[in-house]
Amino acid sequence: MTQKTIIITGGNSGLGYQTAKNIAIAKPEWTIVIASRNNERMSQAVERLKAETNNRNIYGIRIDVSSLQSVREFVNHFKNAELPPLYGIVANAGAQFTEEVITEDGFEGTFATNYLGHFLLIQLLLPLIADNGRIIMVSSDTHDPAVKTMMPAPVYTDPSILADQKMSYEMLRKYSAFKRSGIRYTTSKLAIIYFVHELSRKLIEAGRNDIVVDSFNPGLMVGNGSNLARDYNPVVKYMWNHMAFIIPHLHYFDKHTIRSVTISGRDLAELMLTSSNAVQSGQYWDGDRMIPSSPESYNRDREARLWQWSLKVTNLREW
Ligand SMILES: NC(=O)c1ccc[n+]([C@@H]2O[C@H](COP(=O)([O-])OP(=O)(O)OC[C@H]3O[C@@H](n4cnc5c(N)ncnc54)[C@H](OP(=O)(O)O)[C@@H]3O)[C@@H](O)[C@H]2O)c1
Repeated sequence: MTQKTIIITGGNSGLGYQTAKNIAIAKPEWTIVIASRNNERMSQAVERLKAETNNRNIYGIRIDVSSLQSVREFVNHFKNAELPPLYGIVANAGAQFTEEVITEDGFEGTFATNYLGHFLLIQLLLPLIADNGRIIMVSSDTHDPAVKTMMPAPVYTDPSILADQKMSYEMLRKYSAFKRSGIRYTTSKLAIIYFVHELSRKLIEAGRNDIVVDSFNPGLMVGNGSNLARDYNPVVKYMWNHMAFIIPHLHYFDKHTIRSVTISGRDLAELMLTSSNAVQSGQYWDGDRMIPSSPESYNRDREARLWQWSLKVTNLREW
């Protein structure tokens, strides 16, 4: 199989864009789908990628991962596009909202965007994934309170509460709005790891152990390459965009967590392209190193419950 397709959610900017660029250069015969919520940003990214990589097989298909309807529409468009066999999915799109957000399906915004939409996307695309395919979900070392990232520790509880804006707000109301948004973000990144663990086990049970599903930590990618701070207040946003050079000198951060979209985009592309024999499923990659995720992230009960709850709310059957 020389021709393969890779889907990258949020591939129009930051880490997703850099990953797409590296894969497009390394594999000029492969097809890359930039799955992005904004048509204009998506088209611009596709044209820029074609120009920068000389790979002509780059397409955009719209998706808003916070909307279950949009995820379903994306999958239909993808099927109708009749592209080369689907080899891999990079579930990269992510957001941190500093205000209270309820999605059109009635879910809390961060949980729906970072976790639930990708859960549905991957479930719907799984039957299309070719032999020895690869799924990488972008998590974050902020899920692990032992790593000094300046982000608050996750506060995990039943998904029915995490996904309900009102209940989640009640649970976190003692915190400032900014801290609440940080907790929701780190909790969603922990949920991603639970999903990766459960999915890798289910794939083995279903006889699809040729598919590798892992999570990936890109580290702290401050600087103009990442737009993750778009909703931060102007002071923090300015620091994020223009003062990245200071951060390595601050003792609040573990040095090894500080990276850039260039470095992490290279690591993520390499992970996608590494042969299946060289990687294990259900693992956590910190850049180019496979390491254990936080102790809290290994919890079979939570993993099973999150799986069951997610199937139910997305109207999918157990498999
Ligand atoms: N930056 C960091 O320090 C850092 C650290 C650890 C983990 N991460 C993770 O790395 C991933 C990439 O982040 P980044 O730093 O590259 O930030 P970024 O530049 O903001 O990229 C995020 C991408 O996700 C897209 N996105 C957001 N909400 C979406 C939705 N509802 N539907 C579809 N696409 C959506 C954005 O689209 P728009 O352009 O339309 O907004 C953008 O393309 C995220 O999962 C983030 O959580 C980042």
